[in-house]
Amino acid sequence: MKWWQNTIVYELYPNSFKDSDGDGYGDLKGITSELDHLKSLGVGAIWLTPVYVSPMGDNGYDVADYYSINPRYGTMEDMDELIEEAKKREIRIVMDLVFNHTSNECEWFKESASSKDNDKSDWYIWADPKEDGSVPNNWRGVFGGSVWTYCESRDQYYLHTFGDFQPDVNWENPKVRNALYDIANFWVNKGVGGFRLDAITYIKKPADMSDGPVDAPDNMVSVHSMTANTDGILDFLHEFKDQVQEGKDIFVVGEANGVPASELPLWVGENGVFDMIFEFSHVNVQFSGGEVWYNTKDWKLTELKKCFSDSQKATKDNGWYPVFLENHDQPRSINHFLPADADPVQGAKVLGMLMMTLRGTPFMYEGQEIGMTNIDWDNIKDYDDISSHNQFQMAKLNGLTTKQAMECVKRFSRDNSRTPMQWTDDENAGFTDGTPWLPVNSNYKTVNVASENENSGSVLCFYHQLKTLRDEHEVLKDGNYTELFQNSEKIYAYCRENAKEKIIILLNFTGEAVEVKMDDLGIESQTGFRILLSNCGGERASEVSKQTEKVNLYPYEAMCLQVD
Ligand code: GLC
Repeated sequence: MKWWQNTIVYELYPNSFKDSDGDGYGDLKGITSELDHLKSLGVGAIWLTPVYVSPMGDNGYDVADYYSINPRYGTMEDMDELIEEAKKREIRIVMDLVFNHTSNECEWFKESASSKDNDKSDWYIWADPKEDGSVPNNWRGVFGGSVWTYCESRDQYYLHTFGDFQPDVNWENPKVRNALYDIANFWVNKGVGGFRLDAITYIKKPADMSDGPVDAPDNMVSVHSMTANTDGILDFLHEFKDQVQEGKDIFVVGEANGVPASELPLWVGENGVFDMIFEFSHVNVQFSGGEVWYNTKDWKLTELKKCFSDSQKATKDNGWYPVFLENHDQPRSINHFLPADADPVQGAKVLGMLMMTLRGTPFMYEGQEIGMTNIDWDNIKDYDDISSHNQFQMAKLNGLTTKQAMECVKRFSRDNSRTPMQWTDDENAGFTDGTPWLPVNSNYKTVNVASENENSGSVLCFYHQLKTLRDEHEVLKDGNYTELFQNSEKIYAYCRENAKEKIIILLNFTGEAVEVKMDDLGIESQTGFRILLSNCGGERASEVSKQTEKVNLYPYEAMCLQVD
């Protein structure tokens, strides 16, 4: 197995991880100071969301200079130090490449926008107005509004899949592609361990850029449905692979919203373009169509399980799967996947065991290891996240009251996962000596690294146990995956098996006790298995071994059994 299949990746949101200089924002020195915490979790790679120079309209996903570090986060020397210190602990740094778009303050864009006949005039996607002077088409951007913004100096519009300050670059132009590969290679030469490619399914635009079928009362159509995963995109990405990755010991994971599980073999594996891609079916399980926050449906556990099982099957013989439940764009997993009245500590452990025992590389998101939860702010003005504001407006335009629209924001806001990391029960959770850029979640007195390190029943200690479990049982890395009790709406159960070992994972997703028959697990007697780990305490091993025909799972119990 490759090093990145054998490890755990930790996604880190630099703004919110650890502030070393009291300005209220996290920074690189702060990250370096907490590497031992990450090491204790078994982390072998840290994916940093963008740390480049940026006007921060979308917290770094609007890059102005890919070769320099944002002063908010420190200097290039701090970056070198982080890479070095991480290396000493066998941790590699993974950079986020935002290559679908730049910031409108990037020199490339400034030049391109200055006239129709400069050297970079076709480095972005420009189009003339329609005959009546209106925008070139009816596509709606991911952050709302038209994807087109007018530029006076060219009397043309430029296209932006996201915010108007994030113009899409023109991948059809080989000079642009080479400039992007140069950036990636600059970071490879600095010694990074890999890349996460941001919003990569949008880089290819269809030849026909005319109006699409209207999908909402604003008379527009989502850009996602018009451009995600357009034919021909893989040619670009094969070129990226040849130019950047070939022959180097790095991994590349793509953010590939819009690639169905059935197409995974084209994207990952021997003949694919990446080592892994993030696939979003499970985090979108509650949406009826598109990621429209007011348009949700009730979902069943069987649907969620199917999302995982489909991805597990699709990467069974080909490619590799990044297992994630949270990231900087998603709500906290406890709130996302469990009922509102679920016990947050036991629930976090159920989800932790799920993430650490599916086949693939776990991508843990900062704060997940201590069971951080969503925030509950009542006023839209308190939210920083650009998509929260847009989704709030869309909800209101579609007839929701302010209160209803706020309920959607509270449920899905990206700020839920962006509040400062909770280190201690001191002021500002030990994140900063200054004023944090986003308020700290009010539960920091109990949910924090220092307290949890002292409490053997904590979420953090359970993650430490999960790390040991993975270290000691290779089958959790290389074993096959088979789902059990597929029709159960209460438990998620699966078997991991290799030539040497067989392990069964039982996860109770409900607040009720659930009985599981040994027969149904294919286990013959009480001597046929032993408990390797349960979130209901060490004594569970002796209790359960007395249960001859069945195991009674406690509410929100997570159990790992080794079968003889
Ligand atoms: C990706 C990032 C998200 C960002 C967007 C635009 O989806 O994860 O945070 O806003 O791309 O770059």
